[in-house]
Amino acid sequence: MSLVGDWSYPTTIRLGAGRIQELGDACDSVGIHKPLLVTDRILANLSITQRVLGLLEKSGCGSSLFTKIEPNPTDTNLEAGIYTFKKGDHDGIVALGGGSALDLGKLIAFMAYQTRPVWDFEDVGDNWTRANAAVIPPIVAVPTAAGTGSEVGRAGVIINSREQVKKIIFHPKILPSIAICDPELTVGMPLNITVGTGMDAFIHCLEAFSSPLYHPMCQGIALEGMRLVKKHLPLVVADANNIESRAHMMSAAAMGAVAFQKGLGAIHAISHSVGVLYNTHHGMTNAVVMPSVLALNKRAIENRISKASAYLGIKGGFDGFYNFVLEFRRTLGIPDKLRELGVGHDRVEQMTEMALSDPSGHSNPIPLNRGNVMELFAACI
Ligand SMILES: NC(=O)c1ccc[n+]([C@@H]2O[C@H](COP(=O)([O-])OP(=O)(O)OC[C@H]3O[C@@H](n4cnc5c(N)ncnc54)[C@H](O)[C@@H]3O)[C@@H](O)[C@H]2O)c1
Ligand SMILES: [Fe+2]
Repeated sequence: MSLVGDWSYPTTIRLGAGRIQELGDACDSVGIHKPLLVTDRILANLSITQRVLGLLEKSGCGSSLFTKIEPNPTDTNLEAGIYTFKKGDHDGIVALGGGSALDLGKLIAFMAYQTRPVWDFEDVGDNWTRANAAVIPPIVAVPTAAGTGSEVGRAGVIINSREQVKKIIFHPKILPSIAICDPELTVGMPLNITVGTGMDAFIHCLEAFSSPLYHPMCQGIALEGMRLVKKHLPLVVADANNIESRAHMMSAAAMGAVAFQKGLGAIHAISHSVGVLYNTHHGMTNAVVMPSVLALNKRAIENRISKASAYLGIKGGFDGFYNFVLEFRRTLGIPDKLRELGVGHDRVEQMTEMALSDPSGHSNPIPLNRGNVMELFAACI
């Protein structure tokens, strides 16, 4: 069976195997006739990018490509992208890739014609209202991974290279006008990226579900998102060509991004700091950190995690869920400790300060402070 979806929430989503063929039509429908295709350096050398460029060219959209994007993209990548976008006189962005390329593509569109620096739009309070929304060109997002859900998100994450911190930039119009979610595009992901991105989706749902804020819509979406990852991530790990499970993973990724409107938590606050200093993969870092954060939050989330466990078919309430998480990580080959990703104890103080000032941590069920974050790092490393 192949899964197909034509959804309008939270944006237009065309999900299904082979739907990348609709790219030209998607651009046309949002008024893009001369897009800049934005992807990262690694994807640029794979046949997937040539295929997408070919589709654009065939539909009369030209074949302009920007690829200067690191995993964990930076402000330098953004500046280069804006320069290319303006120089080529483009009228929209097609962002192709995992979260790194999608975020940077979205931010190029957002920042191309703003007059303030990008940091003025950090996702704090109503900063976003400072932006001129009328000059933001349309974005079509084409995910090649199933994790961040950036294709349906209103934020982009970039590193401020001067301050050495990851910042979340937010504006409602960063939301792509259309996301084409073609599970066939995710088949070529290396195994560790399939696992890391899949765990990012799971953890978006878990942290959103655990956040104390009131948002029952997100609560329901988070719960079903966790169920999809629990069932389908092992299936795509066992068989990379399982398109049906790949489609479910793409849905789960989108659901995670919708759910975390309810808030994230300490897993992301810690993972962002580690990612900046050690350039580790975002989702894999989250997965390593997850059990220690669950243990910290236990007394605040025990009841609701017990309810989730019942829905997920896990026996034993919170403790059963905790043991499931450990076993799930083991079967997926996820390292137990951050030191296995190259993280040492020497920069814990610096990472603690970074984690404390990361807005993701502000909705952690147990309020974060210097003491408990230092303890978390000690436990995770
Ligand atoms: N915007 C958001 O809401 C949001 C949410 C979570 C994370 N993020 C950010 O997203 C970034 C991480 O994104 P990610 O986890 O998707 O990883 P990524 O985009 O950095 O990609 C990881 C690697 O996988 C490769 N890759 C991706 N798809 C592939 C495919 N189909 N075939 C072969 N290789 C492929 C990429 O080239 C890259 O080398 C981080 O910067 C993180 O902070 C953003
Ligand atoms: Fe994430």
